[in-house]
Amino acid sequence: MTHVVSIVGARPQFIKAAVVSRALAAAGVRETLVHTGQHYDAAMSDVFFQELGLPPPAHHLGAGGLGHGAATGRMLEKIEAVLLETRPDWVLVYGDTNSTIAGALAAVKLHIPVAHVEAGMRSFNRRMPEEINRVLTDHAASLQLLTHEHPRKLLADEGITTGVHTVGDTMYDAALLFRPAAERSGARRRLGLEDGGYALATLHRAENTDDPARLRGIITGLTAVGAMIPVLLPLHPRTRKMLGELGLAFDPLRVRVIDPIGYLDMLDLERGARLILTDSGGVQKEALFNGVPCITMRDETEWVETVELGWNILVGADAVRIEAAARRFLSHPPKEAPPPVYGDGRAGEKIAMLLRDLAGKVHI
Ligand code: UD1
Ligand code: UDP
Repeated sequence: MTHVVSIVGARPQFIKAAVVSRALAAAGVRETLVHTGQHYDAAMSDVFFQELGLPPPAHHLGAGGLGHGAATGRMLEKIEAVLLETRPDWVLVYGDTNSTIAGALAAVKLHIPVAHVEAGMRSFNRRMPEEINRVLTDHAASLQLLTHEHPRKLLADEGITTGVHTVGDTMYDAALLFRPAAERSGARRRLGLEDGGYALATLHRAENTDDPARLRGIITGLTAVGAMIPVLLPLHPRTRKMLGELGLAFDPLRVRVIDPIGYLDMLDLERGARLILTDSGGVQKEALFNGVPCITMRDETEWVETVELGWNILVGADAVRIEAAARRFLSHPPKEAPPPVYGDGRAGEKIAMLLRDLAGKVHI
């Protein structure tokens, strides 16, 4: 029986793994789930395991709340110990976090093939920790699992042409799979929000939270949006901490800040929003899946199709641009429903079948 060790640690990875984990089980593949502990608050971790039917991790490495070096180093050492004990056919890693690169590095040094979900994405901004993580992971991986065709060209530009498979986006699978449960979650009702009567925001990227000038620009921008439409902001703990350290706060009359929420609540709130403002990779795509216009508070995006289709506007951390983009989308929302560009909702199944069928056939 094919054996896969899956490495997860951060919020979006629990969501992606929830899809793949059930597909692996259905394909008769044995999975050992390893949680690095990168995210550890109940609202950043436990809630996803409870809601999404993800099995409890077989190993919890407790490597959260540390700087890049300490976190990645601790994960690397502990993942290696798990791999020496389990000797799987594959190590499966997701996205671009420190947990991703730690898993990839630990595996490849032991000559265990790495499969990378969401391979080939690039922002071309090497100052982002995520960009370094994803480039290095792609170069360590034997199996590149793409969300769509565009990254195939980006990988080829770096000389990676073998083991490349377009399977679709596990986040699209998740959005479809959990939609009925999200509708039952009643988050909009609980928070007293009217359908189409609010904007939903998230904010956590290091390049925004750790740069006081950018953070101030975004606060001013979201406050200006809050004068046009109520803004709800489920706040990542990283951002809450930085606001506290800098003595900054949102005006509660303009921007309603709440703790991070579970995925089902988030899907329900995204679906009912008139506008989404974010610096998250996953949330940009979910805006598109739900046909909600998105304003991305970054200088670039990996998900360029969302912009090309007219559903996403890049505004950096500039208050004037944030306000102008919101005004434009509120008065002129896109007319055509967005096409499905990130797969057909069966990425999890395709990943499971590839791992099963190619086990033992990839040599590194
Ligand atoms: C990480 C990923 C980022 C991803 C995000 C998803 C890296 C380099 N970054 O960013 O790509 O978009 O996860 O959400 O891997 N914290 C808590 N409680 C938690 C988690 C974090 O308090 O449960 C605080 C801690 O102060 C921690 C800080 O947030 O030091 C940053 O956490 P970390 O996991 O290093 O990075 P994220 O910003 O969450
Ligand atoms: N998300 C969530 N609760 C929140 C904020 C986000 O469940 O309070 C979900 C969101 O719907 C998406 C994923 O978390 O599926 C995105 O994760 P995040 O923005 O933390 O990371 P990124 O995608 O930028 O790596």
